[in-house]
Amino acid sequence: MAVVVIIGAQWGDEGKGKVVDLYTEHADLVVRYGGGANAGHTLVVDGKKLVTHLVPSGVLHAGKMNVLGSGMVIDPVVLLEEIADCRKRGLLAEDSELVVSDRAHVILGFHKDLDRLREAAAGGGAIGTTRRGIGPAYEAKVGRRGIRVGDLLRSSRLGDVLARALDEANPQLARLGGEPYDLARLTEEAAALGDKLRPWIGDSGRAVHGAISKGQSVLFEGAQGTLLDVDHGTYPYVTSSNTVAGQAAAGSGLGPKGPGYVLGIVKAYTTRVGGGPFPTELSDEVGARLRKIGDEFGSTTGRPRRCGWFDAVVVRQAARISGMSGIAMTKLDVLSGIRPLRIAVAYECDGTRYDRVPASVRDLANARPVYEELDGWDEDLGEARRFEDLPVTARRYISRIEELTGTPVTLISVGAERDETILLRDPFLL
Ligand code: IMP
Repeated sequence: MAVVVIIGAQWGDEGKGKVVDLYTEHADLVVRYGGGANAGHTLVVDGKKLVTHLVPSGVLHAGKMNVLGSGMVIDPVVLLEEIADCRKRGLLAEDSELVVSDRAHVILGFHKDLDRLREAAAGGGAIGTTRRGIGPAYEAKVGRRGIRVGDLLRSSRLGDVLARALDEANPQLARLGGEPYDLARLTEEAAALGDKLRPWIGDSGRAVHGAISKGQSVLFEGAQGTLLDVDHGTYPYVTSSNTVAGQAAAGSGLGPKGPGYVLGIVKAYTTRVGGGPFPTELSDEVGARLRKIGDEFGSTTGRPRRCGWFDAVVVRQAARISGMSGIAMTKLDVLSGIRPLRIAVAYECDGTRYDRVPASVRDLANARPVYEELDGWDEDLGEARRFEDLPVTARRYISRIEELTGTPVTLISVGAERDETILLRDPFLL
């Protein structure tokens, strides 16, 4: 399968977990390269649901190596819980099946407190974060006062690293009405977490390079979506890291030519959680129906997701930024019974027509989508296994999205289970 990157091409929650899981069967190594426990990948196997926040989806297949790359921010408490949960299910039996980068950054309790308190203080201006401490940990990293996974293993240095972090965090916590952290206690707790994680901490870049140089197949598992990217998304309503395909190289220590095939995961409609503009959002009964039938509730926070029509402007932009080779379209079955269907092909804002997402969220908030209407279908798609099994209107919907985004749809998902999948032109799974 060589080297494949899977990214979300909308605002996250596109259903990456299922597609990653299909690809994982053909990969030797599965790598997470950005974000942290803000992600939630739902995997359904034999009717049983497993939600992972940190551990890559490769965990479901014995003998694969799963890598948490240096671009990530890792909450050791969540990671240890996930490892324990996997082991209870007979997964991750060997320590060698997981490598956690010693260069990745660590999220501790005070990062999460800061995230929560800042959001509470922001009132109506809140970002709507997952409160997992992502923003404060990335800020510390870029501010060069972060705590790295490797620091947890060096008891002689750990106290100094944490002292620097608390010098900054404690006054902020006090200002926001939070409790300050005690250095000695935190040092002891962090060292204990490091001890527990010790079997898995290592040089993740070496693991990835080693696999590629041996000709093994590597799958990079993206988190969140392109429109949540800190540079390319709807700033400031974004996460604090890069979520685009280019980050797969930077966040795991590869050159730019490393990642070869980029698969963009696209939901057949659009959803978003948290605040920020969403031009095709539906606050009517169609939006409510998408939420209900599509079970659109956050897998990390349980929040109801905002739902709307397919936005081709967003996906076209994502295809360009990440150099998407193909689209895997998920949840096409959810659209059954909605007639007619609409696709946003452009926006209009103050008399200007946009065929791209404007940089300013103010412009985007004022943008009115220009819709194209397509006929829908009533048939249940759950049994479709070939493109020809789909009603002609569903096929037209897919073809129009291919035209509007300039990207071929290579895989279609019509249900949560692995076999509820149509492979069209997928170069690896067919
Ligand atoms: P943070 O990443 O927790 O700081 O949250 C920033 C924004 O990204 C919020 O709008 C979150 O709802 C959103 N977000 C973060 N992770 C995910 C995800 O995995 N899926 C969807 N939205 C996410």
